[in-house]
Amino acid sequence: MAEDKTFYITTPIYYVNDIPHIGHAYTTIACDTSARYKRMTGYDVRFLTGTDEHGQKIQAAAQAKGITPQELVDKIHLNFKDLWRVLNISNDDFIRTTEDRHIRVVQAMFKQLIDQGDIYKGTYSGYYCVPDETYVPENAMGPNKTCPDCGRPLTIMEEESYFFRGSKYVPQLIKYYEEHVKAVMPRVRYNEIMSFLRGGVRDQSVSRTSLKWGIPVPGDEKHVIYVWFDALINYASAMGYLDDPEKFRKYWPSVRHMVGKDIIRFHCVTWPLMLLALGLPLPTEIIAHGWWTVDGEKMSKTRGNVVDPFKMVERYGLDPFRYFLLREVPFGNDGDFSELALVGRINSDLANDLGNLLNRTLQMIQSYRNGIVPSCSEPDSELSRMYPEVLSRVDEAMNNYAYDEALKAIWEFIGRANKFIDETMPWKLAKEEGQGERLDFVLLNLYEALRLSALLIAPTMPDTSRRIWAQLGQDGDTLTVQYDSFRWGQGAGTAIKKAEVLFPRIDIEQWKKDREAEKAPAIPEPPHEPEIGIEDFGKVEMRVARILKCEEIPKSKKLYKLEVDLGYEKRTVCSGIKAFFKPDELTGRTVILVTNLKPVKLCGVESNGMILAASVKHDGKAEKLTLLKPADESIPLGSRVS
Ligand code: ME8
Ligand code: MG
Repeated sequence: MAEDKTFYITTPIYYVNDIPHIGHAYTTIACDTSARYKRMTGYDVRFLTGTDEHGQKIQAAAQAKGITPQELVDKIHLNFKDLWRVLNISNDDFIRTTEDRHIRVVQAMFKQLIDQGDIYKGTYSGYYCVPDETYVPENAMGPNKTCPDCGRPLTIMEEESYFFRGSKYVPQLIKYYEEHVKAVMPRVRYNEIMSFLRGGVRDQSVSRTSLKWGIPVPGDEKHVIYVWFDALINYASAMGYLDDPEKFRKYWPSVRHMVGKDIIRFHCVTWPLMLLALGLPLPTEIIAHGWWTVDGEKMSKTRGNVVDPFKMVERYGLDPFRYFLLREVPFGNDGDFSELALVGRINSDLANDLGNLLNRTLQMIQSYRNGIVPSCSEPDSELSRMYPEVLSRVDEAMNNYAYDEALKAIWEFIGRANKFIDETMPWKLAKEEGQGERLDFVLLNLYEALRLSALLIAPTMPDTSRRIWAQLGQDGDTLTVQYDSFRWGQGAGTAIKKAEVLFPRIDIEQWKKDREAEKAPAIPEPPHEPEIGIEDFGKVEMRVARILKCEEIPKSKKLYKLEVDLGYEKRTVCSGIKAFFKPDELTGRTVILVTNLKPVKLCGVESNGMILAASVKHDGKAEKLTLLKPADESIPLGSRVS
């Protein structure tokens, strides 16, 4: 029988209420790297990600914004889609739990479990963490009845509820894990899950009456299905559980779930128990990675230290970011994100080790051999002998999701190649009589080391791999080159292309200055005005106004012509804020207007007042500007400011 060559990998489906950060980016980049690697090694790969769109948090967030939950999720799930595009994520599908194809499967599974007696009705009361959507057992609560995970206060909830008889399947699950010790990785998580299972598992509440925004329980619509029961099923609904059973049968048995360690119980206990009850195969592997902190601290909105992956990519480029995340920490361990460490790796591993190897090699082939890779009769070198071992180390690491190990092995190879240049000194060989063949040997070996390195880094750094490939004069796309053909010795005779810098070095001193400047926007010491009395201030009449219309003034780069409403009259005002706003960002805004300024003509338009703004000026030029407005915008137009 042919070896099973399907590989189905999933990320968690992320809550849409959060803005995507490096934690989400990390899981998804790791999955992407595995998916790409498996495609290169001949697997038929399916790679799924998506968004978790039901539950209390979404309902509350929508309410706060005065829109429907559906409107909210339709808009903000796009943050994730955008990020995956920017991060070059090669997912085959993106599932949203509000999609019909998902809802139907959740209801069908729920109904099947009711019908077979594995879901039953009862009452639930307990401490609940609303932000985490989870009940917390009393023995696990933090001090003062707080959530042990997030530290926020718990709420008591009591409700009629459906329960899932998961307890019934625990012995079966324990047996499965005993027979499949790699089903949960890494080993510490496996041990954690086994001891949890052996400690006994209670039936779980799987419905809520206290909330509307969820999938209704079939036949009992005042209940909605618990968001985790709903969410976990995405992995099956996206694979065509109902709509395309053939596809489901083909890929399901190879499913791998990659998750952060925060959600392993749901994935290693709840979900497998559900699958056992449903009579479906259990996941082949559940891989749990560690937790990122930032400069030693937990990432949180209140601390304001959430690292924005869009910004990292814009600042450092995509592949350096991908490389750093996967290289920096042993997979499974917690890691600390520091931009300085990222810059360090860009300069040393990328610019220095890889970038220089490529540059030096291509330049030598260009100047000594007219840009054609030479051939030679000497079959072996330190590099060619090292390569098979590197390849098998990479294979093993990749199959264990040890991305850092795979990259380490590749960089040892790159390091060896750089050392090979220093040892053989091709620039000397080029000058000496009778060393032509030796020089051919050196150049060919370096070329081969680079060609194979470009293939090996392709899953982690797809763009860089392609760029190197193109500079080496190779045809096609590294990601479609099959791994079986990663053999030493295919480069001779190739015409190389011009060498280009892959990763510009970052000047650390300048970088530090830039970061400082960012932290504290340079507000120069303001030139203070002379003291005035209250009677002077009283001469300025300021009132609440609304911008009704905003038009360009064709002759002016700085000015807009605004029509403003003071309640008791309308006026035309010219305002020099064009650089900061588009016209439609201004219409409808409530502002503060100085109303008793003498009219002036600006670019041919008479201006009757001035809109107040705060700005940061540099060399007399505004760099940042914001318009003043009343804190409570329901105050009537024309109200006097004093
Ligand atoms: O839990 N470090 O969604 P979620 C590393 N919707 N990884 C991190 C991280 C960090 N600091 N922060 C987040 C949910 N992650 C559920 C999942 S699945 C059926 C339902 C990553 O938006 C990590 O993968 O809170 C973690 O497991 C996941 O984001 C949690 O995402
Ligand atoms: Mg979470």
